[in-house]
Amino acid sequence: MELLTVNGYMSQIAKALFANYGDIHVLMPNAVSIGNPADVRALLSNPVVRKADYYKTLRFTGTENTVSARDLELANMRHRQLGPYFNPSYLSKMENKVMRHGILSLRQKWDGLLAQSVDGRAEVNYCEDFLFLAFDTIGTLVLGRQIEELSANDTPTAKSIANTIMYLGVRAMFQLLPRWLAALVLRPWEGRYNKLSAHIHESIASRRELVAALARSGADEIKPADLLQAFIDAEDSESKTRMTPEQIHGECVLMMMAGSDTVSGTLTWAVHLLMLYPQHYGRAVAEVRSQFGQEHTITYSECRAQLPFVEACLYESLRLSPVTGGLLPRVSPKGGLTIQGHFIPEDTLIFVNMFAVNHHATVWDQPSLFNPQRFLDNDSARHNVLTFSMGKRVCPGRQLAWWEMLTVLANILKDYDWALPADYALLGPGVLDKHGHPRQMDETQFIIIKPARPERDCRLVISKHAAQPRV
Ligand code: HEM
Repeated sequence: MELLTVNGYMSQIAKALFANYGDIHVLMPNAVSIGNPADVRALLSNPVVRKADYYKTLRFTGTENTVSARDLELANMRHRQLGPYFNPSYLSKMENKVMRHGILSLRQKWDGLLAQSVDGRAEVNYCEDFLFLAFDTIGTLVLGRQIEELSANDTPTAKSIANTIMYLGVRAMFQLLPRWLAALVLRPWEGRYNKLSAHIHESIASRRELVAALARSGADEIKPADLLQAFIDAEDSESKTRMTPEQIHGECVLMMMAGSDTVSGTLTWAVHLLMLYPQHYGRAVAEVRSQFGQEHTITYSECRAQLPFVEACLYESLRLSPVTGGLLPRVSPKGGLTIQGHFIPEDTLIFVNMFAVNHHATVWDQPSLFNPQRFLDNDSARHNVLTFSMGKRVCPGRQLAWWEMLTVLANILKDYDWALPADYALLGPGVLDKHGHPRQMDETQFIIIKPARPERDCRLVISKHAAQPRV
């Protein structure tokens, strides 16, 4: 598995495996890969199937975290501890932070660029802006203090989180090397990771002091609602266990990793795809602008209630270009299991091909086509998108991700007209792939699928949408 993540081609490998060998095949001695949605559902919802040892590499600190836990008891306990804080009721308490560091911050930056422009247009790199927006949001929720680097155009925290993602990825890869060599290679990254780690320790300590001071003063002021507080307060409803300081620290590091480039990546693919399919872009713009005026900032609940097509565009981006579209490794349980008539002995690695699941012809008509319409009034299509995984190890941050992504996408569709730069002809609605659909930008994947050349392929020319007088 480490070898697959080292080279950045994991998503291409997953696609090629599915195209060449179908939805079940032997991948290596003692490893198979599956991609049939029915098989994958059965596997991921099987309560005794555990994650493979590969996930050890995602144990960033001295202790297991939600993603690295392979022990089923521990994983279940973490989901019980954290579940209440990722549900809509707690999320609504964080809504103003999500809006402020998400769409409002992006708008401030883009409006600032347009204000300086002589012709009313500005070129932005949406991949970069979404990444900093996602870092600001998750950084604020996890560190418990305002991070406003996107609008300030200075991004030290974002850079240190990005560095940490790199560091952890590289550290995972270099497990294959002798220890001394790995230590040498990792040294430049390690220092910066240690700084972020210290920052997290400080945040936890100062939050504990704040809450203690509030309690002592007897003031009515309620404690802050964010992920930092959630991790401090989280308690297992069954055993009443809370997390140790080390575990809280581990969750903070993890959430910054898990909740940043997943969100920004999905938004990036959504904008890219809308630029390749002008008919869907036009429909999304018309839907948003027919319902909301220029001065209004569209909230999450308004998106859900009034913008089914914009929501469908995100579902279709999650399906067609799943940021987690590589191979998720699991282990067959005691006694083994049978898939499509093939017996898979116990302790066999089973790689779930996430790309195959979202492109399987048994579920998706014309799977390579970006067609948001397939999600309109279609609950079963939504249910079939497995980009957030499913079962016991489903992504706990999926609702937070939806809050961030929908509010950003809906508001930028409303507020700005988008166009590809005039000097860019590499990709566009008329440049077709082997299926006869607009060709997508090249990608790379270490953990998350990202554009391979964002500085070239994620440029967008924006201008302020001039509102027509309402009749
Ligand atoms: C579009 C955005 C996102 C996508 C597509 C996504 C996707 C996924 C997927 C596929 C998994 C399962 C991984 C595996 O089994 O190897 C996962 C797990 C996880 N995600 Fe997300 N995620 C997103 C956003 C977030 C956010 C915003 C957070 C938190 C703030 C988050 C936190 C987690 C955690 C803690 C796990 C581990 C769960 C477990 O193993 O039990 N994710 N995510």
